[in-house]
Amino acid sequence: MFEHLKDQPADKILALVAAYRADPREAKVDLGVGVYKDASGNTPVMRAVKRAEAMLVEQQATKAYTGLAGDPAFSDAMIDLVLAGSVPRDRVAAVATPGGTGAIRQGLELIKMAAPQARVWLSNPTWPNHPSIIKYLGIPMADYRYFDAETRGVDFAGMMADLDGVAPGDVILLHGCCHNPTGANLTEAQWQEVIALIKAKRAIPFIDIAYQGFGDGLAADAAATRMVAGGVDECLIAASCSKNFGIYRERTGILMGLCRDAGQVKLTQGSMAYLNRQNFSFPPDHGARVVTTILTTPELRADWEAELEEVRLGMLDLRGQLADELKRLTNSDRFNYLADHRGMFSRLGTTPEMVEKMRADSGIYMVGDSRMNIAGLNAETIPVLARAIVEAGV
Ligand code: LMR
Repeated sequence: MFEHLKDQPADKILALVAAYRADPREAKVDLGVGVYKDASGNTPVMRAVKRAEAMLVEQQATKAYTGLAGDPAFSDAMIDLVLAGSVPRDRVAAVATPGGTGAIRQGLELIKMAAPQARVWLSNPTWPNHPSIIKYLGIPMADYRYFDAETRGVDFAGMMADLDGVAPGDVILLHGCCHNPTGANLTEAQWQEVIALIKAKRAIPFIDIAYQGFGDGLAADAAATRMVAGGVDECLIAASCSKNFGIYRERTGILMGLCRDAGQVKLTQGSMAYLNRQNFSFPPDHGARVVTTILTTPELRADWEAELEEVRLGMLDLRGQLADELKRLTNSDRFNYLADHRGMFSRLGTTPEMVEKMRADSGIYMVGDSRMNIAGLNAETIPVLARAIVEAGV
C-alpha cells in the first residue's frame, strides 16, 4: 500500500529549520521558526517551569489517565489567563489539546461537525499551518486581505471590504495578538469594527492566541480576545502555552468554546471530548500540570510573569535597535515599522528572491515570505542583518 503514497508538500517553516542546520557556515543567523532565543542563542527553560517541574516530581502521586478534556484545573487557570472574567465561566466549554496546533485542529473539526457548510476565512497572509490543516480536513476556505505591502501595517480597508463577503455562520479566524507572520496588529478601534461586522454578519470568530505576553503585556495582549468574547454570542479560542511558558515540546494548549448560554456547554464540551477521544484520546498532561502549578502558585506566577516581561522587553529592544541601525544605514525612516510591529515576528514585505539573496550572501535564514523571528537576533547580528537588508535592495 505504501507505494500509493505521494510526497507531501514540505512545511516551509520546518524546511527552513533543516536548511539552517545543514548550512556549514559559521556565521549564520536563524530567524526562522517561532522559538524564543536569548542573547546567546539558547532557548532556556523558564525559572518557574523548572520549579514547578521539581514540585511535580516531588509531589505527583500517579500518572494514571486524566479525563478526555484534561485536568479541569488547567481549563480554569487558562480560561482565567486568557479571558479574565470577560465572559461568565459557565458559558465556556474547554478541552486541553496537544499544543496550540492541536487546539486549532480540534476547533476546526468541531466546526466541520457542527457546520459543515461554513467557510473559514483566513487573513492573507497567515501562519501556513492554518490553510494546510483546513485543506487537509476538506473545509471550505476563503481569505481576507490583511497586510499592506506599502506601509507594512494592516490593510484594514481591504480586510473589511473582503469580510463583507462573509455569509451567516461562516467562521473568521483572527490572531488574538502578535499576528503571525506579519507582526502588524489591529488597533482597539479596528477590533471594535471587526466585532460589529461579526455581529452584523452573524459570523463566528475563531481566535488563535499563541503569543500572549510577547507583544504589549499579558493583559494587553489578551484585550482583543476578551473584547471579542465579551461582545459575541459564540466564539472559539485556541490558546497555546508553547511560547509564553517556553514549553514547546510538551505540547500544551487548550481549545475553548464560548457558548450562547450555559445550557449549551454540556453538548459542546461533550463534542470536544469526543473529538479528543477520536484523535488522540487523552491530551498530554505534563505541560498542562506545570502551567496550572505556575498559574495557581502566587510566588511561581510572579516569577513567571517577571521572566516573560524580560523576554518581551528584550524583543522590543531588539526591534528598536534594528530600526535604528537601518535608519543609520539608509538615512530614512522607512524601516520604522519594525519597531511598531509586535510579537516575535515581522514581515519585511520583500520578494522571495531578496530573501534568498540574504540567505546566500549573508547566511540569514528567514521564511520565504520575508517573516523574521526577531528573537533570533542579538547585538552582534543586528548590524549583519541590517547590512544584508540594505544590500538586498529591500
Ligand atoms: C512558527 O510559526 O514558527 C511556530 O508557530 C512554529 C510552528 O509550529 O510553525
